[in-house]
Amino acid sequence: MKNFINLKDISVKDLRKILDDAKQRKSKRRKLSTLEADKDKPLKGKLFIQMYEKESSRTRLSFHIAIRQLGARSITVKSEELHLGKGGESLADTAKILSTYGDGFMLRTDSDKKINEFKKHMTVPIINGLSPSSHPTQILSDVFTIEEIKKKPISKLQICWIGDGNNNVINSLIEASVKLSFKLNIGCPRKYEPKKILLNWAKKNKGKIQIFNYSIKAAAGSDVVFTDKVISMNDKVNKFKKLKDFKKFKVNSKVMKFAKRDAIFLHCLPRGDEVSDDVFLGKQSKVWQQALNRVHVQKSILLYCLNKLR
Ligand code: CP
Ligand code: NVA
Repeated sequence: MKNFINLKDISVKDLRKILDDAKQRKSKRRKLSTLEADKDKPLKGKLFIQMYEKESSRTRLSFHIAIRQLGARSITVKSEELHLGKGGESLADTAKILSTYGDGFMLRTDSDKKINEFKKHMTVPIINGLSPSSHPTQILSDVFTIEEIKKKPISKLQICWIGDGNNNVINSLIEASVKLSFKLNIGCPRKYEPKKILLNWAKKNKGKIQIFNYSIKAAAGSDVVFTDKVISMNDKVNKFKKLKDFKKFKVNSKVMKFAKRDAIFLHCLPRGDEVSDDVFLGKQSKVWQQALNRVHVQKSILLYCLNKLR
């Protein structure tokens, strides 16, 4: 079994295997409806437990559908409904119980430490469904969407991120850019640049990352423009002040004009004021396709975790 916690810990070969499998599975089930299982039902009889300590619409639903399409079932629990942390049940005991009933565990948490604690005690795979520092299922799925639309490997494209340079989604995007060798331009205020430790890791591993403190410079010549909410769920900041700091980093049609003519716009959702309506709802925006592809890529992530990928 394998865990799926941070992209940087997964080999390039395995990341490619997941993307290839997702492409094949997606094309094979074109005529099936949402809850019909893939013909081979590779995870028939299995149970996956999802736990959310933070809000989620897309991750929760897309995992539910993904699990059903693999022939398995899922149950979703909230941490406050379990004995975890209350009544004296330790995380270690809960982890063992989850491993006894379930064949895999998907966790969205407000603590990176907690994922590592669960990992220590679980005997079934654990998937990070968003933590303060990482959102790996989102970004691998976004790579899939980009390659699907652009019809070329992401290594041949220039990707741009405008917004918070130090949140879970950009961290995973940085890790993906190093692993899958694509150019990544980040446009963010100086105060919100990525953490030095991550940039040093990227540099050491031949990352092609450039940071600009102007949005249009980051967008220039890009094939894909990404952004994300300025205030993340786990942000413990002065929200008013942070929003003000990002005033010049809104993705609008002026910024999109600096990207390539056929550039696409992506956003993992939910959205705030970081993108104008005309861009978000415009022709270049692929956000609905992006959200739907979570299902397809997460299926292959689940198969990878259970050693079922050829
Ligand atoms: N993009 C994403 O992870 O959305 P949710 O928070 O709704 O799961
Ligand atoms: N950065 C955002 C992503 C939401 C899917 C957050 O953590 O709130």
